[in-house]
Amino acid sequence: MTKTFFIATWGCQMNDLDSQRLSGSLKLRGYRRVDDETKADLILLNTCSIRDKAEQKVFSHLGRLRELKQQRDGLRIGVCGCVAQQEGEAIRRRAPWVDFVMGPGNVGYLDEVLDGARSIAIDFPEDRRYDYLTVDRPSATKAQVTIIEGCNKNCTFCIVPTTRGREVSRPFDDVLHEARAAVESGRVEIELLGQTVNAYRCPASGGDFGALLAAVAEIAGVARLRFMTSHPAEVNDSMIAAMRDHANISRYLHLPVQSGSSKVLRRMKRLYTRERYLETIARIRAAIPEIHFSTDVIVGFPGETEEDFAETLSLVEEVRYGSMFAFKYSPRPGTPALKLGGAVDDDVASERLTRLFALHERIKQEQFESYRGRVLDVLVEGASKHDPAMFAGRTDDNHVVNFTAKGHAVPGSMLGVRIDAAQHHTLRGEALV
Ligand code: SAH
Ligand code: F3S
Repeated sequence: MTKTFFIATWGCQMNDLDSQRLSGSLKLRGYRRVDDETKADLILLNTCSIRDKAEQKVFSHLGRLRELKQQRDGLRIGVCGCVAQQEGEAIRRRAPWVDFVMGPGNVGYLDEVLDGARSIAIDFPEDRRYDYLTVDRPSATKAQVTIIEGCNKNCTFCIVPTTRGREVSRPFDDVLHEARAAVESGRVEIELLGQTVNAYRCPASGGDFGALLAAVAEIAGVARLRFMTSHPAEVNDSMIAAMRDHANISRYLHLPVQSGSSKVLRRMKRLYTRERYLETIARIRAAIPEIHFSTDVIVGFPGETEEDFAETLSLVEEVRYGSMFAFKYSPRPGTPALKLGGAVDDDVASERLTRLFALHERIKQEQFESYRGRVLDVLVEGASKHDPAMFAGRTDDNHVVNFTAKGHAVPGSMLGVRIDAAQHHTLRGEALV
């Protein structure tokens, strides 16, 4: 009988993509994917350890699997992702019903782990074995493509350099082949992924991120090109020029700021000041006036005073981000920030987070209001989840639009949609054709 598998995924887009790779290679081995973990012969938990909360979710899920393991003969449980990398062997001491532990560097080595050659795989092999043809992409219109793995930045709060290792860029040609194959399979939207995408350097030719961006944008059939995450200190003229010169590259840039205070940024080792960050924003706006920005913010970082936080508020007000992801600082094992004094009280951090969200909500509603009556380019994704009589797609700046159309809106097509209402998190409108 065919074996079945279940994957739970937490965390960032890199983790999502790792799950797509794991799923693809399991299907190649003849496994069938199921949505109910109680029916699976193999359960993979692809975990995230960016903040303490994410990590706790993994261990509570593992707790629930203990009984299932006893009930189901032959069930195998694997912990993958960043918690696997961070905790290694310790996971099996805490949860002995786990069969194997496999870090993000070993996604290409699932076969060896399943065959029993290794049960703790947490190294970073020189050859990451990236088989892009076996990626099990969940979307018919969009493909995510890794261009750089790991991170060398070592921000003092961040666990990623530990869990995902040193930076390794994929060769230019590999990326182009993968993007072309994705387009041939109907994916008209490509998203290039990496913890610091714009630090990309082709290991063979030395080509930089701007050069890669331009080359992918020029592949026939790429209707929209996105990328995540850019580091503010790595933004350069070549990247800006590639965006300016290619209309199919989104006029949307995720540029995590983390804090608006230069003092806090120095303690975070973010490699830019408030002024440098704002200059970078201004430079990009000068070249591409219609650009939208989104960001990540950490509040309550050790030593953050009310004045520092006020600088974050004023920066958010100044840049007017379309989207913002904000988090309370969460101490991570082995990170340099643990040694900084000046812990911020949890109540104070929570209250700051609430104020920050309230400010951003106002900015976002103002932006949504300004869309009313305008015609935006929407890339159609399929039927709307809320109302099957409607369609859903995304704007260039990544907002979901639910819309009506006279005929059938073909997934993957780009339509002009007149926006008539702005709801809490989504836009509504009517296709012009
Ligand atoms: N490589 C990206 C994203 C890294 S993780 C970058 O350059 O920013 C995604 C976001 O999680 C970060 O931008 C940061 O805002 C948040 N984050 C990372 N570590 C954190 C921690 N210890 N506590 C709270 N938030 C954290
Ligand atoms: Fe983390 Fe900073 Fe890299 S946030 S992923 S160490 S750029």
